[in-house]
Amino acid sequence: MKPRILVTRRVPKECLNLLKPYFQIEHYNKDTAIPRARLLRSLKDKEGLLCLLTDKVDHELLSAAPKLKVVSTFSVGYDHVDVPACSARGVVVTNTPGVLTESTADFTWALLMSAARRVVEGDAYMRGGKYKGWDPLMLLGTDVNGKTLGIVGFGRIGQAVAKRAGGFAMKIVYYDTRRAAPEAEAALGARFVPLDELLRESDFVSIHTVLDAGTRHLIDARAFGLMKTSAYLINAARGPIVDEKALVKALKTGKIRGAGLDVYEWEPKMATGLASCRSAVLAPHLASASLETRTKMGEMSASGLVDELARRTPSPYRVAA
Ligand code: DGY
Repeated sequence: MKPRILVTRRVPKECLNLLKPYFQIEHYNKDTAIPRARLLRSLKDKEGLLCLLTDKVDHELLSAAPKLKVVSTFSVGYDHVDVPACSARGVVVTNTPGVLTESTADFTWALLMSAARRVVEGDAYMRGGKYKGWDPLMLLGTDVNGKTLGIVGFGRIGQAVAKRAGGFAMKIVYYDTRRAAPEAEAALGARFVPLDELLRESDFVSIHTVLDAGTRHLIDARAFGLMKTSAYLINAARGPIVDEKALVKALKTGKIRGAGLDVYEWEPKMATGLASCRSAVLAPHLASASLETRTKMGEMSASGLVDELARRTPSPYRVAA
């Protein structure tokens, strides 16, 4: 008998094709999150779960899934998975590291450039029929080249963002709980600084840290108070790293000039007032959303289940408890 698994959302066909030979698949093949009650009910007889960052894997879920052996998340982030609770029950967790680094870094730059150069406002201006001809003072943005980029979280994605900044002759400062190797700093021309110094110095502050107890609301009202009034906040990591109500206030009162956001504190909802902040560019969690990258993520998340459940070999994408 093939092991039973649950796939909680529509996924690339390449992902399903890898799973089909090995498993009996129950597939919630929709473009919305599986309802919690359905998720718990479906897991009663499942050994494997292929889930998304919208599915909370916690004690309640584990208790509803007595046969569960492997949780494979279709994401690099796994803040939605209680990994210690999984480990305590002998449930292995796998994720999709590495494959989305470059596309996430690309998208971070798309947000940064769009916010600084008012691309989205310009688009609305054209479509709204407001453009009456070239005007020296129309929709003035901020130069990116030669400015200071502050990167909070200098892991794979943070460093890939830094690499791209070289093309804009930017100064790079970074903050992380651990300092990067001297070779990485030298190669990227990046200087390690305390967080407050980064916030004071940077023209663009870009978040690339994981979400955990130590980073929740890392960027709060106090942080906005330290930032330049001409600065921009870019967040393509996790919403709750930023106090979103404080961000709305900072944008509305001119404490910072703008923002580029891909993630939200109460995703998919936004804080009241954010939608009317024209200086914020808002995207619906798209940073890894290229066809190539989502295909690779699908293949990698499938391989976590195939390795662990069918081949009984440890997946290279196991998350450490
Ligand atoms: C992840 O993988 O964690 C992203 O947030 C979605 O690509």
